[in-house]
Amino acid sequence: MKKVLVMNGPNLNLLGMREKNIYGSETLGDIEQKVKAEAEMLNIEIEFMQSNHEGELIDRIHDARGKFDVIIINPGAYTHYSIAIRDAVKAVEIPTIEIHLSNVHAREEFRSKSVIAPVCVGQISGFGSGSYVVALHAATLI
Ligand code: DQA
Repeated sequence: MKKVLVMNGPNLNLLGMREKNIYGSETLGDIEQKVKAEAEMLNIEIEFMQSNHEGELIDRIHDARGKFDVIIINPGAYTHYSIAIRDAVKAVEIPTIEIHLSNVHAREEFRSKSVIAPVCVGQISGFGSGSYVVALHAATLI
């Protein structure tokens, strides 16, 4: 069975109350349930986590070596400037999919730049919580 680590970066714990017009009204807990149900249908084993701390995200990427086949990551604002997370993804050589709830290319200019996407298999952006579901399907293809 494929094992997938689903990672969420800073401020995603506030989903459901944070900028609902952009991110929707589902909480991260709602999204976790949705992802778990989809994973069961796809016969994928998942672990779901969130952290507001760059170092903790990096430690979890390191720990994923030998344990997970694919990483799905919504790095939040770290997307746009964390070379350290980029280097961690590159270092562990686990196929990684970057995801975003919002379409980062349709917002402020600084959001259209991802320093992490170039070391990922690809980026899924703009489908709300559906981005997580699409990413799970993509994980079955890699
Ligand atoms: C986000 C987009 C980022 O630009 C932002 O900083 C977030 C959420 C998204 O899922 O749309 O925190 O990653």
